[in-house]
Amino acid sequence: MSRFERKILFAIGLAVFLALGGSIFLAQGALRDVYAVGVNERFGAELVHGVEARRGQLMALREGSDQAADAVLWAIEAQLASSRSGRRLERPLGELLARYEMVQSIRVIDGAGQTVATVARSPDRRGDELRTTIRDRETGVGAQRFRIAVEVSVPERYFQRLQEAGEVADVYSRLQQQGASISDVYAWVFGVLAFLVILVAFLIGAIVSRRVTRRVTDLAEASRRVGAGDLTVALPTGARDEVAELTMAFNEMVHDLRDSRTRIEYLQRIGAWQDFARRLAHEIKNPLTPIQLAAQEMAETYEGEDEVFQKKLQQARAIIEEEVATLRRLVGEFSAFAKLPRADLSPSDLCELMHSIENSIPAVLEDVGHGVAAPVEVRLSCATEPIRVRMDPMMLKRGVDNIVRNAIQAVYGAHPNGGGRVLVHAYQSKGSGFVEVRDNGPGIDEEHWERVFDPYYTSKAEGTGLGLAIVKKVVLEHGGQVRLDRALEGGARFRIELPLMES
Ligand SMILES: Nc1ncnc2c1ncn2[C@@H]1O[C@H](COP(=O)(O)OP(=O)(O)O)[C@@H](O)[C@H]1O
Ligand SMILES: [Mg+2]
Repeated sequence: MSRFERKILFAIGLAVFLALGGSIFLAQGALRDVYAVGVNERFGAELVHGVEARRGQLMALREGSDQAADAVLWAIEAQLASSRSGRRLERPLGELLARYEMVQSIRVIDGAGQTVATVARSPDRRGDELRTTIRDRETGVGAQRFRIAVEVSVPERYFQRLQEAGEVADVYSRLQQQGASISDVYAWVFGVLAFLVILVAFLIGAIVSRRVTRRVTDLAEASRRVGAGDLTVALPTGARDEVAELTMAFNEMVHDLRDSRTRIEYLQRIGAWQDFARRLAHEIKNPLTPIQLAAQEMAETYEGEDEVFQKKLQQARAIIEEEVATLRRLVGEFSAFAKLPRADLSPSDLCELMHSIENSIPAVLEDVGHGVAAPVEVRLSCATEPIRVRMDPMMLKRGVDNIVRNAIQAVYGAHPNGGGRVLVHAYQSKGSGFVEVRDNGPGIDEEHWERVFDPYYTSKAEGTGLGLAIVKKVVLEHGGQVRLDRALEGGARFRIELPLMES
């Protein structure tokens, strides 16, 4: 894992952790607060007190009812004792019933099981449900035995209330016990969720950052290779983002570096060839005059009568003079190549260049046709808009002239009786100005496309192979490029590309 990747992951982790950790902390705090408000010990204690109070109340009620029953029993015993019979008990029983509210009914039964007297309260007017108990006692009055049954009651609702209060207190105390564990459960659930979210965030982060960092490390690796001199590196740009922009800029830079390196290498090579041409010209040029003079002198100073020899002498002299003239021409070309000045650039218009080229075409046609204009159709055209480039018009004209001359020579060779065509066209496209020369001659095999620009590469008997070398040198010095491929017409297509001036 790269350092960059680790940093990205750390940042993601920190962000998720802070966000989730914060929310867990807050949520837990809030949960605890809610609990502390809703479930606290004082509430619990109050509830328990409430239950106890109710129980006490109920006990008191029951005690009251017991006492009432006792009192009633006692009063009836006394009554029975004084009257010695169960007669005339109805009245005192009614009074007792009226006095003790909790007493529901009183019944006196004699030894034979006969009811002696009974009173009962009429059903409760409030409709309260009652829980009743019967308290009875046997008592003897003289020889007679009586059983007294007193029915006392406590309203059912007191029992219910006690039960309800008990239940509430139970629930509450359970809640209270669970309080701590419930917030623990929430914390756990939250924790697990947080863990999952962090995991997912990490995974996504890892995938994204790996893709970014891999491209960045690729870039770093490619830069190292470029630093080590490998200019063939090109990286895939991939998705449209900043890294892609960086990669594109990098590729462009490598491309430019490669261009300028080939440019520099070519110009260095040309420099060496120029040195060679200068020496060659010098070595050849010096003996030419003595050779020519010697041949002249030999032919002129012969005073013998031998006609045949005289003729041979004149022939030799003509041949020597012709060859010397050819050598002179070659020497002239070599030294012109050797002295080729550097291009001196200034803002100009490619269309104007086309006009000056047009003017020199008739002379070239005549030269190629050895005194008679070669039957080749040369057409020049230019865009209506000026094509602004920085150039050395003299040098560039010389270059384009060389290309056009080659084209005329090629189509004249292929169509000596007419039908040869050469098209010269200037235009601009995508930030560059172009001069294109196409012909319908034999064209050039693709395997020679690089070599034709080398000095001394020629396929002609009297060629020097310097024409295209000069073209390439001039164009490179213009910061441009010259390319060769096949023309639509079947012949060769040369294209000079120059950077357009910023408007
Ligand atoms: N338009 C063309 N069609 C066919 N061959 C061409 C054309 N232009 C150049 N060449 C080839 O490229 C070679 C190099 O041309 P150049 O450098 O001008 O030297 P030279 O004209 O002295 O031969 C030529 O000899 C010829 O073989
Ligand atoms: Mg040539």
